[in-house]
Amino acid sequence: MARIVGGINVTHVPYIGRAIANNLQQDAYWKPFFDGFPPVRDWLAKVKPDVAVVVYNDHGLNFFLDKMPTFAVGAAPQYQNADEGWGIPTLPPYTGDQDLSWHMIESLIEDEFDITTCQEMLVDHAFTLPLELLWPNQKQCPVRTVPVCVNTVQFPLPTAARCFNFGRAIGKAIESWDSDARVVVIGTGGLSHQLDGQRAGFINKEFDLMFMDKLVTDPLWVTRYSVPDLVELTGTQGVELLNWLTTRGALGGEVTKVHANYHIPISNTASGLLAMEVV
Ligand code: DHB
Ligand code: FE
Repeated sequence: MARIVGGINVTHVPYIGRAIANNLQQDAYWKPFFDGFPPVRDWLAKVKPDVAVVVYNDHGLNFFLDKMPTFAVGAAPQYQNADEGWGIPTLPPYTGDQDLSWHMIESLIEDEFDITTCQEMLVDHAFTLPLELLWPNQKQCPVRTVPVCVNTVQFPLPTAARCFNFGRAIGKAIESWDSDARVVVIGTGGLSHQLDGQRAGFINKEFDLMFMDKLVTDPLWVTRYSVPDLVELTGTQGVELLNWLTTRGALGGEVTKVHANYHIPISNTASGLLAMEVV
């Protein structure tokens, strides 16, 4: 059976794509952010995943406000990136793992998660940038991928508990996949940020650091908060932390922290990075 080697949660911000394209990793603004990644890349070189299941939210590239699934899973042979209008270079297509996709889809529906199945799917910055950060300077991403979308964009959003349980079902699906593949689960987005309205620029360092700590030791801690509470605590886009929680759910019981980084701000966002290994 397939094995989950661990999970990585990481911020996605389009501005990071500009920094990579312009080689600004050593620039004073960017260095504290990019310096977080080498230990995680070293860990990936050690655990050698074959496949990445990427839990993220689409921002209007593949789904728009007229049709917004709560949970969606890709089942395509490959996933194209496309211009999102931010001037970020588009990237070569990502290779899918259709065998794992279909196994996950069947297992999730059996477990009563009535997901949307996507046999064609465009992937936006929330999918591409974390993979670029984790495997830099590659012509082609070296792992096969399965995109998993969680709606953190258009209300009503799934509750924290629902996302954690969705993650658990994803973990169960991966671990029952008849394959000797090694799988890493990657959650993207967050931490606190708000891009619009009167609180634009809102950041909550105290909550973010507590969330990162609790995600390792007591992931159900955050399920005490409703979605409106989470928006109040972390901002309208900070609620992307639901992708982190889903990823943590997929890892199951105990995990250990491999490496973490937290830096404010990247664009409007408190950037976080947290790599975890399954005990
Ligand atoms: C920013 C953050 C995001 O999560 C996103 O999807 C787009 C932009 C930002 O801080 O600029
Ligand atoms: Fe986002």
